[in-house]
Amino acid sequence: MAQQGNFKSPSRMGALGDGAPASSSGAVAGGKAREEGLKGVDFERRGFLGKVVGGIGAAVAVSTLYPVVKFIIPPVREFKEVKEMVVGKASEVPVNSGKIYAFNKDKVIVINDNGKLTACSAVCTHLGCLVRWEDKDNQIFCPCHGAKYTQLGEIISGPQPLPLAPYGVRVEGEDLIISIV
Ligand code: FES
Repeated sequence: MAQQGNFKSPSRMGALGDGAPASSSGAVAGGKAREEGLKGVDFERRGFLGKVVGGIGAAVAVSTLYPVVKFIIPPVREFKEVKEMVVGKASEVPVNSGKIYAFNKDKVIVINDNGKLTACSAVCTHLGCLVRWEDKDNQIFCPCHGAKYTQLGEIISGPQPLPLAPYGVRVEGEDLIISIV
């Protein structure tokens, strides 16, 4: 009958005590060697199984974590800054009101003060809250910590360190266009 695995190895056979019967002289020494040989075989099997299980575990971990990491870190999109852009219709900013539009990476507030259009960044220079136009006080106001700016974004009072960045705004036909100044 064919032998399998490490039992074919002469050194292994030696380690197993050359198949000496348990009842022969030196049975204790032969049995001990056989026992140690079997332990070696068992150890090798465990090592192999450990590697297989480890490999499967690693594959499962990678296939699970990859989509999570891709979700958390979205692909970098190339952003192209524009000098000017139609952001909407002029009618969206009626007299004595303000409206915020996205422009490049900023938010811009367009203010219509009795027909005079102005635009500046809508991101407060204190801690980045969005400001709003307060027509009754004729000023831009930040609701977070009370920063006040003029219609052109200049500082009136409050904790803000800098004025609001100015932008250009004009109407062409019905289009409202914001531009970099
Ligand atoms: S974020 Fe505007 S006043 Fe603080």
